[in-house]
Amino acid sequence: MSAIYKSGKEPHAKEHRIIFKNVDREGWDPSLSMYETEGGYDQLKKAIKMEPSAITDEVKKAGLRGRGGAGFPAGVKWGFLPPNNEKPVYLICNADESEPGTFKDRYIIHQDPHQLVEGMVISCFAVGANLAYIYIREEFPEGAQILEKAIAEAHEKGYLGKDILGSGFDLEIYVHRGAGAYICGEETGLIESLEGKRPYPRIKPPYFPAAMGLYLCPTIVNNVETLCHVKHILEAGGEEWSKIGTPNNTGTRILCVSGDVQKPGYFEVEVGKVTMGELINDMCGGLKEGRSLKAVIPGGSSAKVLRADEVFTVGRGDDARELTIWDIPMDFDTLAACGSMAGSGGVIVIDDSRSISWVLNNINNFYAHESCGQCTPCREGSLWMKKITDRVVAGKASPSDIDTLDSVARNIDGRTICAFGEAASWPTESFVEKFRDELVADTNPELEDDLLNAEALTAAANLG
Ligand SMILES: Cc1cc2nc3c(=O)[nH]c(=O)nc-3n(C[C@H](O)[C@H](O)[C@H](O)COP(=O)(O)O)c2cc1C
Ligand code: SF4
Repeated sequence: MSAIYKSGKEPHAKEHRIIFKNVDREGWDPSLSMYETEGGYDQLKKAIKMEPSAITDEVKKAGLRGRGGAGFPAGVKWGFLPPNNEKPVYLICNADESEPGTFKDRYIIHQDPHQLVEGMVISCFAVGANLAYIYIREEFPEGAQILEKAIAEAHEKGYLGKDILGSGFDLEIYVHRGAGAYICGEETGLIESLEGKRPYPRIKPPYFPAAMGLYLCPTIVNNVETLCHVKHILEAGGEEWSKIGTPNNTGTRILCVSGDVQKPGYFEVEVGKVTMGELINDMCGGLKEGRSLKAVIPGGSSAKVLRADEVFTVGRGDDARELTIWDIPMDFDTLAACGSMAGSGGVIVIDDSRSISWVLNNINNFYAHESCGQCTPCREGSLWMKKITDRVVAGKASPSDIDTLDSVARNIDGRTICAFGEAASWPTESFVEKFRDELVADTNPELEDDLLNAEALTAAANLG
């Protein structure tokens, strides 16, 4: 195993590090002995003396929202497990980290794996799971080894295995390596993959994992960062923890900033306490020399794009207010009110040097490659979107192709088995809505009526 990569960067003054407290920390290593020097597994010791339902209550009181993408409240999800259930309950940690622009879970895994293991053991105790999996993408082979080592260490010390710390509670955690597909991050695709099958997402309802998950048993799927928060919630108490961040947007979350900023990177902030402007200008050192902001994709590549010159109206009635892009607090609710989402925390900054056609084509290439192919609108539509933007970038599209592009996207959205359909179509829908002029400017009007044009004919055939 090679040495653990550390960025060498100090946390920014505006950060509030809880989950990333030990990430990049001088002298810190991922061993159990190191973890125990600072109260490692103390929260587990506390948890096993509690009623499992009391732990869920703390997570509910904390208002912890999932950090994997949808922002669904974790305690509420746990509460969906059927009462008086006779089947085994499973817990799965989603470590697929596949959303472009997102790079946070891997640092927890590499540098503080016991934080995740402790969070998982407490969560399993709360939901009554005796078997748990960490589903990690194949591109993180070192991460998988680090986790396996951490699990073995925890086993040796009695934090895992039979009769954990004399509590009578048994738990095994297995690391399962995926083969590296975006769709394996979608929870039901992940479950199919874990069962050894092709990762075709399942239709919901009825296959909500909490009711019918792994091997059709009740299953909780949570993101790495979400599960790590659980031990800190127990430490502070749910109510106290909920004072971090802002109402309904509690706690801290890790934002991953990439693209056209001076200092891209990860930042753990209190949810809603930092604005987009503070994030880009203060924490990331601003835009590149001489450049101005064109757009931001605020929550991973599937989030709808925000234009730099938009004015967003958020709130209702007397609470309504107008925000520029710089004023947007980085929280779940405000980003949703601005027409996008906080998603996975991957903030992609686009300056005026970028061609919008190129950016959209880059995204469309990804989704065309990653569609699992199970439903027709997504399988065909994601490829059509890619083909059209390929032609826009090559200057071989006609202006009306932009309408076709929009229509293809809108015929995927809402018509598919899983939310990949929205993930793939929202970029196109929002780019066409907000940057139509720029996309049209990259087309060639002379191709409009040229029925003998080879590209136009090929496109027509492809759109069949
Ligand atoms: C196409 C697609 C890809 C996803 N990829 C991930 C992923 O890589 N990691 C993740 O935690 N959640 C991912 N999700 C969300 C999961 O389906 C699920 O909501 C999440 O793991 C639940 O955890 P949370 O409630 O803690 O956020 C993805 C969803 C979709 C639709
Ligand atoms: S929406 Fe796309 S990724 Fe999801 S099941 Fe259908 S084809 Fe597969």
